[in-house]
Amino acid sequence: MRKLIAGNWKMNGLVSSLAEIEALKGLTGSAACDIVVCPPFTLIDRAVRQAVGSPLSVGAQDCHAQANGAFTGDVSAEMLADSGARYIILGHSERRVSHGEDDEIVLAKVRAAHRAGLTTIVCIGETRHERDEGRAIEVVNEQLAGSVPGETDSRNLVIAYEPVWAIGTGLVPTHEQIEEVHATIRKGLEQRFGHDGRAVRILYGGSVKGVNAAAIFGLRNVDGALVGGASLNASDFAEIVLAAT
Ligand code: 13P
Repeated sequence: MRKLIAGNWKMNGLVSSLAEIEALKGLTGSAACDIVVCPPFTLIDRAVRQAVGSPLSVGAQDCHAQANGAFTGDVSAEMLADSGARYIILGHSERRVSHGEDDEIVLAKVRAAHRAGLTTIVCIGETRHERDEGRAIEVVNEQLAGSVPGETDSRNLVIAYEPVWAIGTGLVPTHEQIEEVHATIRKGLEQRFGHDGRAVRILYGGSVKGVNAAAIFGLRNVDGALVGGASLNASDFAEIVLAAT
């Protein structure tokens, strides 16, 4: 399966940061994987213009579930698609925790994004406490079942397994732990979408760097990565992209 490497800039990036996209274009010209950069809302339009004619796509990090209306400060999936975004990260643990987004809210946003024609990168993953309690698989299954609409076109779907305790910490699960969770997700996708579930890409996210990327990409059912910190710097991100090709 063609791998997908997505960079989540989170709440980082000013106009001057677009230089990283320019540099990334130069560094990843030979890459044989899909590459997505998800800057903050304010940079999406500019990033899209900058990516024209390159293999880079642009994504967003959140949306409102409604197409429009009296929702001060929010941005809809339709607006993002209109700005040229093609992907969207939804259900990131930082939003689940700091904005109280539960599976029901994430599900509504995934539906909204699909309605607008965006490809969703739906994040799921257990906390340290849940893993210590032996509940990682249960939590991932629950989030997968609750956050992904059954009626959706699986071609617009990407899942990212992001163990919360591995995000921004430098900690990475063992290869066995990653394979176990990814196999569980694959099984859930096949139960839901039948044969089409095999074609849904499952990304790993959480402290992916140039040094560990190739080994992670060699694991079964790992179809790419969702990268935080290392996506902010073009050469660090390019190292990960090139490890996937
Ligand atoms: P880090 O790569 O900084 O651990 O972040 C992962 C992440 O949250 C991507 O969405």
